[in-house]
Amino acid sequence: MKISGRSFVVSGGASGLGRACVRDIVAAGGNAVILDMNEELGKALVEELGTSTTFIPCDVSDTASIKSAVDAAVAWIRKSGKPLGGIIPGAGVGHPGLILDKELRPVSMESVDFVLSINLRGTIDLVRQLLPELASAAPEGPDGERGVVVMVASAAAFEGQMGQVAYAASKGAVASMTLPMARDLARFGIRVVTVAPSMFDSNMTAALSDKVRTGLLKAMEFPKRPGQPEEFSALVRHAIENVMLNGVVIRLDGATRMPSKL
Ligand SMILES: NC(=O)c1ccc[n+]([C@@H]2O[C@H](COP(=O)([O-])OP(=O)(O)OC[C@H]3O[C@@H](n4cnc5c(N)ncnc54)[C@H](O)[C@@H]3O)[C@@H](O)[C@H]2O)c1
Repeated sequence: MKISGRSFVVSGGASGLGRACVRDIVAAGGNAVILDMNEELGKALVEELGTSTTFIPCDVSDTASIKSAVDAAVAWIRKSGKPLGGIIPGAGVGHPGLILDKELRPVSMESVDFVLSINLRGTIDLVRQLLPELASAAPEGPDGERGVVVMVASAAAFEGQMGQVAYAASKGAVASMTLPMARDLARFGIRVVTVAPSMFDSNMTAALSDKVRTGLLKAMEFPKRPGQPEEFSALVRHAIENVMLNGVVIRLDGATRMPSKL
């Protein structure tokens, strides 16, 4: 699918991996709607990229907040004349917590719900609410393609580390729903691809302690460095453009396999 002439909605688009996708989409001639809770970064990105983008505040853990953001996004997209071509639900949080700590305290359900409601529920809810607009786009090209959903899992979907029960559950679920979602949406000419990155530089990983960061770097094969947001967005761009990519989870990790302990 061509990016040029189409619009893409990117949640978590104000920072890190989502922001790189927004920049790439605009560079390729598309429009991007940035949905995020971080107004300051969202507005700064619109200032940087200009009228091909708009920022709409949204909390993806809240169905009503998504509803008003989707309404505003759809109105902006229709006015722009570039029909919706894809959804990138990139908003996510880490929020580690041991299921049982040394003092025998179980993890709180508030912290589990926090992670699941953004990473998992927020992904399904945003995609669900935007799909009627995506399925209404005119079919494109010889395959009659209407659009693509590119979700974001993590290496933690496969090798979650200590403290990542909730995060791994959320990302494993995103990976698992890739194929059934692709099957549900095939009749509409909509594809679903999930990218599972290892450690990438972003605000999320900037918060890691030096010990964790050094441990993760040691676990890397080649290249022995964190991925860059532009390397993530390059794969998302390819996923948008290559019609044969569908119902698949692609690891983007330089052969890293997360170890048991750092
Ligand atoms: N950076 C990594 O190493 C890495 C690795 C694997 C997966 N991921 C995943 O990539 C995605 C992007 O993360 P990132 O590394 O760019 O982090 P980031 O913190 O730089 O960006 C995440 C964005 O999501 C937004 N956000 C958080 N909660 C939200 C909510 N409730 N509603 C709307 N927006 C919300 C934040 O404001 C932020 O702009 C996440 O899903 C993350 O789990 C990141």
